[in-house]
Amino acid sequence: MMGSAIRRIAVLGSTGSIGTSTLDVVAAHPERLSVVALAAGRNRELFLRQCERFRPACVSVRDVEDAKWLRSTLSYGPEIHSGPEGLLACALHSEGNTVVAAVVGAAGLQSTEAALRSGRRVCVANKESLVMGGALMRAAMEAGGGELLPVDSEHAALHQLLNGRDPLSIREVRITASGGPFREWDMARIQAATREEALNHPTWKMGPKITIDSSTLMNKGLEVIEASVLFGLAVDQIAVTVHPQSQVHAMVGFRDGTYQLQVSANDMKLPIQYTLLYPEKLSGPVPSYDWDNSRSWTFEAPDLERFPCLGLAYAALRSGGTAPAILNAANEIAVAAFLDGRIGFWDIQACNSEVLAHLPSEPAASLEAVLAADRNARDNARSWIALK
Ligand SMILES: NC(=O)c1ccc[n+]([C@@H]2O[C@H](COP(=O)([O-])OP(=O)(O)OC[C@H]3O[C@@H](n4cnc5c(N)ncnc54)[C@H](OP(=O)(O)O)[C@@H]3O)[C@@H](O)[C@H]2O)c1
Repeated sequence: MMGSAIRRIAVLGSTGSIGTSTLDVVAAHPERLSVVALAAGRNRELFLRQCERFRPACVSVRDVEDAKWLRSTLSYGPEIHSGPEGLLACALHSEGNTVVAAVVGAAGLQSTEAALRSGRRVCVANKESLVMGGALMRAAMEAGGGELLPVDSEHAALHQLLNGRDPLSIREVRITASGGPFREWDMARIQAATREEALNHPTWKMGPKITIDSSTLMNKGLEVIEASVLFGLAVDQIAVTVHPQSQVHAMVGFRDGTYQLQVSANDMKLPIQYTLLYPEKLSGPVPSYDWDNSRSWTFEAPDLERFPCLGLAYAALRSGGTAPAILNAANEIAVAAFLDGRIGFWDIQACNSEVLAHLPSEPAASLEAVLAADRNARDNARSWIALK
């Protein structure tokens, strides 16, 4: 039976927030889930501990020096790789049938594409690859005959809500946003926000890049683009509702005026487990929702003036072609510069807006075209930052 297949998993980005949660889910289902490959960036101490615990057949780290260190330190002898080729070797290892794509940023593009093309189940957390090359990712999945399951909590929620639904009955989908740490701040205070304030997310514990993206609402903008790629929806069918409690993850609005909502605790292990075990729902490492604990939920519209990055994402989605890749690349450079203390918080949206307006959108017809747009946008963003 398809549902009870043993998932032999390659985790790309195993040392990150999603990667470590994935390994917790694997450890909770040893009869169903096993690890065949692990790939990480530069956190070699944590990576070593993960390798010793799960003993994957294939491992990879970003730098050659760390690969040498692993070779001399590991207590067993897996295949050891490094760099982008290492990510591919892990994704395509012959013993694997499932890939969790959890590298952050454009660094995950090629391995996600290759995994989809190989016909495996690919659980995609790396939303940047879907934003940059959405149509290419779908084409790769269709060519390989595999599956693409979204790990992002809002999209895993939509996957559950839309499953088996007649597309003609759907009026709109809504993904929720916590609103981030600056939801109630006025414009002047947001403009002067510090790195520490932006990293202080109210409801989710995540890696630094996505945490900054949540504070600008760029993350929600990337997710709007991701939703259009995953579910084939028109831009006007995808809306955002701010819901600070992060318990409702998505809603589907039907033609008859009714809505269905998906609710769970805000713990990424839930959508990770959903994608790994789909279509089965087994008990897992997160307690089920407690309805007897009284609570309030609130909902409000996002404010595009204080959070212009959300509007930029809609504009990029409307332009199509390489515009989403351009916006994503500018944003990666701007967020890295903000985290390094080279630009201020408000400069992130200014940089993204300038680069998106300056560079024309071209057809995103091949991986090369997308990568060229990505490089060009990064150069533009770096020049903009250097002139500040
Ligand atoms: N965190 C969440 O709750 C969440 C929710 C939804 C979606 N996502 C998405 O999931 C992805 C991962 O997010 P995260 O929060 O887990 O990020 P994170 O904590 O920063 O982890 C990123 C992972 O990628 C690895 N990595 C970075 N560059 C690499 C490279 N060049 N080669 C190989 N590995 C590399 C890092 O390795 P080292 O740490 O060893 O350097 C780490 O394992 C992002 O696309 C994010 O948008 C995250």
